[in-house]
Amino acid sequence: MLRPIFFLLLALFAGCQRGTYYVAHKAAIAEAAMVVTPHPLASAVGLKILKQGGNAVDAAVAVQWAMAVVYPRAGNIGGGGFMLIRRANGEAASLDYREKAPAQASRDMYLDAKGNVVEGLSINGHLASGVPGAVAGLFEAHARYGKLPMAKLINPAIELAQKGFAVSHGEADRLNAYQADFRKYNEDPNPFFKDKWQAGDLLVQSELARTLQLIRDNGPEGFYKGETAREIVAEMKSANGIISLDDLAAYQAKWRKPIIGQYKQYRILSMPPPSSGGVALVQMLDMLEPYPIAQWGFHSPQTVHTMAEAMRRAYADRAEHLGDSDFYTVPVDSLLAASYLQQRMAGFSPDSATLSQSILAGQFKLTLESFETEHTSIVDQEGNAVSVTTTLNSNYGSKVWVSGAGFFLNNEMDDFSVKPGVPNQFGLVGAEANAVAPGKRMLSSMTPTIVEKDGNLFMVLGAPGGSTIITGVLQVFLNVVEFGLPLDQAVSAGRFHHQWLPDQILMENNALSESTTATLAAKGHRFQTAKAIAVVKAIVRLPDGRLHGAADPRNPDDDARGF
Ligand code: GLY
Repeated sequence: MLRPIFFLLLALFAGCQRGTYYVAHKAAIAEAAMVVTPHPLASAVGLKILKQGGNAVDAAVAVQWAMAVVYPRAGNIGGGGFMLIRRANGEAASLDYREKAPAQASRDMYLDAKGNVVEGLSINGHLASGVPGAVAGLFEAHARYGKLPMAKLINPAIELAQKGFAVSHGEADRLNAYQADFRKYNEDPNPFFKDKWQAGDLLVQSELARTLQLIRDNGPEGFYKGETAREIVAEMKSANGIISLDDLAAYQAKWRKPIIGQYKQYRILSMPPPSSGGVALVQMLDMLEPYPIAQWGFHSPQTVHTMAEAMRRAYADRAEHLGDSDFYTVPVDSLLAASYLQQRMAGFSPDSATLSQSILAGQFKLTLESFETEHTSIVDQEGNAVSVTTTLNSNYGSKVWVSGAGFFLNNEMDDFSVKPGVPNQFGLVGAEANAVAPGKRMLSSMTPTIVEKDGNLFMVLGAPGGSTIITGVLQVFLNVVEFGLPLDQAVSAGRFHHQWLPDQILMENNALSESTTATLAAKGHRFQTAKAIAVVKAIVRLPDGRLHGAADPRNPDDDARGF
């Protein structure tokens, strides 16, 4: 009799242990500093660096290295990203370390002889990868703003890769979901091959640890030249990949002038092209500012209708006009001009949805403008802020793991418009501005954002989520400043999204009430449901000066902590 009870208790105890590898803090209030990341182990690294005297950039860099180990589905050294920095003195900078198309890339490289898109070619496998920018970006940010030695920032990641760490439920689920792809696109076995992953299984990444050591000891050349570069190129040559040693050696991150907008007493700093995020966010805010959405109420039919109409118009412009400004004249000033945005909403009707077919992108006389052109939010004890979003694009990127070097390569080439008007994996369409060209950066939706209120740091936010990143950031900001929600509620509240095409409101389950959707349907809106729309990580400065950090419940591993 006692034996079964003993085994039952043992099983329950074991089950409990298996479920408690990390405690992810969904919200935190702190006096001095705050770190919000997609994984508790990465947050712990960021916090440790701050406590050792590092600043927000040091912490962000250390978090990115750690994420490359503990969050292999998106954290990376085989991808790229954008970092937005606001120093305590108000100086702002944005760093572009987005991937670039290899020199052998060409406009029609994903089309067959008949000019049709070859399904999946830009999404999975060796040809889907752009030249990675992450390592160059982290060194560039650190060189300009870091305080602590790089070795101190990278060593925690090396230790996590060498000793291994227990995978979370979320990671185990994804690792299981992608087993077939891992085997399809990789000839050599790698640490991710396993018949069934369970939460708590140890993931040891010795090859990655060695690559991180090479990077620590040799700087960017530990990645872009020598052993690691040769391993990347050998991996490319094992299939149909085209990234060359020259592509790697030539990669450079670029400082760009942040997009700056104003919404009431809030100054918005965000990411310029090759991200569409900053432009589209500021466009939507400008279009919405004249409307009394706070008075209409949170998720009221009129509020949702007006916001969806602003989203529709911004995404129509995104499709036509946004791309890498080093290759295409992106009319940023025209797109953000008050007169243009007023006229953009002129055809807006409070009573009916505008047909997306009738919203063409705005027409401008193109004049040459000036050349200045995963998510973690951090505020340090001096008041410096960093908002950084990096990506492999899909989960585990192209699914190609570089043999010997130990990391996944991105599939960012799918963010190009591989054929005008043909949607990518996020359903986004594009045109000439975002056509593939050698050395060009593909258009992104990543929207690392920092907000000032009356000249002082107010909010730091951003998200993963493909095309829904921009509208996710928009809604969390408005939830706080218009609808008065505390940050954790602002982040967890249901979300919706409109991206011009397809002509529909994407809506999280139960985000909008039945009566709201009925009213909106009567205006002509169509609906599609989604499990999650963006996964926002945000920090807000409270009126008493403390920091409120909020991690998103949409990702169980999202974690906020401060001191
Ligand atoms: N790969 C998603 C984005 O950059 O928008």
